[in-house]
Amino acid sequence: MAKLTILEYPDPRLRITAQPVTVFNAELKRLVADMFEMMYAAPGVGLAATQVDVHKQLLVADMSEDSNQPLVLINPRILEKDGDQVFQEGCLSFPGIYADVERALRVKVAAQDIDGNGFVLEVKGPLAACVQHEMDHLVGKLFVDYLSALKRTLLLKRMEKKRRQSA
Ligand code: NI
Repeated sequence: MAKLTILEYPDPRLRITAQPVTVFNAELKRLVADMFEMMYAAPGVGLAATQVDVHKQLLVADMSEDSNQPLVLINPRILEKDGDQVFQEGCLSFPGIYADVERALRVKVAAQDIDGNGFVLEVKGPLAACVQHEMDHLVGKLFVDYLSALKRTLLLKRMEKKRRQSA
């Protein structure tokens, strides 16, 4: 069973830059399995290792309706991006708040799979927004960073209020 917990804003560890994955072993497979378990249970559509306080370049995502298209990206790099979209994003590190974020519509990403094999993935629309959001986590960037100071303050106040109510 997963022993991981999801870091929540403003935990400073969410700002740590992740290091490349160099060892593809059973421990890594267990971490990926635990991250999927946490993501699906939350429920969420994406989770970066940074969010579970593991500072490795690794993310999981699944934006399919039936949660049956798991995607693992290890050491992801954006090769190309084009177009624009505005997508309403949430984040497991910001429970209960959502905001429109503008990102590229299409991205082409080079990454490695769980066994270390390289591949190239082209995604567009919501999945492209998700991949960009999760890749941001790996460099310590958060979706609220894209908002105006005013919008960000309002949203974070709302999150604090919800947190107090549920405490
Ligand atoms: Ni997030």
